[in-house]
Amino acid sequence: MNAREEQETVAGKAYDVELARRLWRFIRPHRKVFFLSALLLPVHQVFNLVQPLLLKAGFDAVAAGDGVTLFTTGVLFGVALLAEAAAFFFQYYLSMLVAQRCLADLRVKVFSHVQRLPMSYFDRNPVGRVMTRMTTDVEVLQEMFAAGAMNLVADLVLIVAIVTIMMSLHLELALVSLAMMPFLLLGINVFRLKARQTYRLIRTRIARVNAYLGEAIPGMAVIQLFNRQERSFEEFDDLNRSHRDAIRRSNVYEASLFSMVEAAGSLSIALLLWYGGGEVLQGIVSIGTFVAFSEYIRRLFVPLRDFSNKYAVIQAAMTAAERIFELLDTPVERPGRAASPDPAPAPAATAPAAGLASGVPGPAEPAEPATAPAVIQPSRGAVEFDDVWFSYRPNDPVLKGVSFRIEPGERVAVIGATGSGKTTTIKLMSRFYDVDRGAVRVGGRDVREWDLDALRRHMGVVLQDVFLFSGDILSNLKLGNPDVSEDRVRAALRNANGEGFVRRLPGGLQAAVRERGNNLSAGQRQLLALVRMFVVDPEILVLDEATSSVDTETEFLVQGAFEKIMANRTCLVIAHRLSTIRNADRIVVFHRGVIREMGSHSELMEKGGVYYRLHQLQFQGEGGAADAPGTRDAAAVD
Ligand SMILES: Nc1ncnc2c1ncn2[C@@H]1O[C@H](COP(=O)(O)OP(=O)(O)O)[C@@H](O)[C@H]1O
Ligand SMILES: [Mg+2]
Repeated sequence: MNAREEQETVAGKAYDVELARRLWRFIRPHRKVFFLSALLLPVHQVFNLVQPLLLKAGFDAVAAGDGVTLFTTGVLFGVALLAEAAAFFFQYYLSMLVAQRCLADLRVKVFSHVQRLPMSYFDRNPVGRVMTRMTTDVEVLQEMFAAGAMNLVADLVLIVAIVTIMMSLHLELALVSLAMMPFLLLGINVFRLKARQTYRLIRTRIARVNAYLGEAIPGMAVIQLFNRQERSFEEFDDLNRSHRDAIRRSNVYEASLFSMVEAAGSLSIALLLWYGGGEVLQGIVSIGTFVAFSEYIRRLFVPLRDFSNKYAVIQAAMTAAERIFELLDTPVERPGRAASPDPAPAPAATAPAAGLASGVPGPAEPAEPATAPAVIQPSRGAVEFDDVWFSYRPNDPVLKGVSFRIEPGERVAVIGATGSGKTTTIKLMSRFYDVDRGAVRVGGRDVREWDLDALRRHMGVVLQDVFLFSGDILSNLKLGNPDVSEDRVRAALRNANGEGFVRRLPGGLQAAVRERGNNLSAGQRQLLALVRMFVVDPEILVLDEATSSVDTETEFLVQGAFEKIMANRTCLVIAHRLSTIRNADRIVVFHRGVIREMGSHSELMEKGGVYYRLHQLQFQGEGGAADAPGTRDAAAVD
């Protein structure tokens, strides 16, 4: 928790040129509206400041018995009031318009960036934290606009203007009624520092609440199964309380500050009455000046009171901006290395597809190196692991010098115990991660030199746990690609023998899929994932066979679809079914991150090594049930 708290707490600066410059990039496209709103600010203030002067003229007119002047000042006062209100309305409306537009842009920008982040980022950052960047942190920026924090400079100008006007009206009276000011400023400064700490605490704690929810809600099934509700409740209760307490502390500071400023204001009025009242009675000061003073004092204390609050909001906003930009600065997956010694392949073949899935690069994004996207040419679909070393965490290698080759059209089965590094090979092939040493080559080319979109388009991957998005079956099979026709989907379904299965779902292709596809069974999801492969028809197929057994009927369908999609294709299958393993051209046996054996089924059986023993143990007398030769027992056999 401590580490997280530290990470969530970034020292707040109220003003940071670099941050302001970057925020400005988001305001820039809406600068016309922004400047219009900024322009209305002094207009609003002028109409505000002129009112006490009009009151003064009015009261003095009363004292002098001048009805005409009284009438004109009355009319002017009304005009000033209306103009002030109108200017305020449009100023606020326009500034919020800019705010909402900028923040919507910012969210899109963050989302498109998150979409391109490497998997290692999500290993390090919990969902809740990533979501906080896009929700709470963006809202804090919005508060900056809403609180009029951008008007801090204008407020300072206002304060100076009021003091100047008061002094020019009557210096002596001004000095007396402003006698409280130094004390007040001192007090405000003390509160500002106190409040700053609590504001930061509040941000940290709300981030923790979000992070907790981000884990607890998706994990609700486990919480309920293990009767952890009470524990979870207590944990959440703790986090929630600490957040509440932080807010309560800030409330105490705010309440004290407000009452202090109110008291100081009242005291100033009292001083004015005591001193100025006498002067008026003696006829030294006019009643109008006296009224104008009391009005100015009132107007002076409002920006003073809000100053510390606005300052704190700016600080919080800068902290939030810092975090958002930190996320935006996290390097995204590189589409490829700039220079390549290989002869450049004809770019025309893949040119139209280049822009297909490449996010929405904003104007601020550094230009990505324009490498010609690689095309599988000379050795179509070949895959090669060349002395690959890889670790998720430093000094904890998961793959240790793995080398193997899949020829075009060859089918290779990978087997091995849980945790031996099988799935990791897939992640390296599709470049979710980059190797530490060695190279992974696809089509004779290092995956790091590939255009990432092109690489992934050539490679169809079915992961162990199939993830479906909420929507319907059709949209999940199309995977959001509008170019895929429904006919193509139907043809794929026919090929995968999945027609009957889909027909039986309520609504067929339009059958609803809930979030994560949790209204479908694991087997059904797997079958759909295979149909997806028929739709995309990839050159290289990578399958992580599910270990969970499915019902016999679905299993039959899945197995049939498996065989069909793998035919005449370069395939890497992390296999658990005996049939898949037997039918493979070559079997690679993984053990703790190294390749232990490699060869065809008959070769390995003849050899009488690890594979032979696994086979004896797992499949004796079995007809190829969906059991796993390596899931638990390889280590035991060894
Ligand atoms: N995202 C990750 N972060 C850290 N370690 C991981 C991650 N994914 C897998 N590992 C570790 O890497 C090793 C190999 O995992 P994996 O390739 O998934 O094994 P399997 O052969 O069961 O598919 C395991 O010890 C696992 O704990
Ligand atoms: Mg695995």
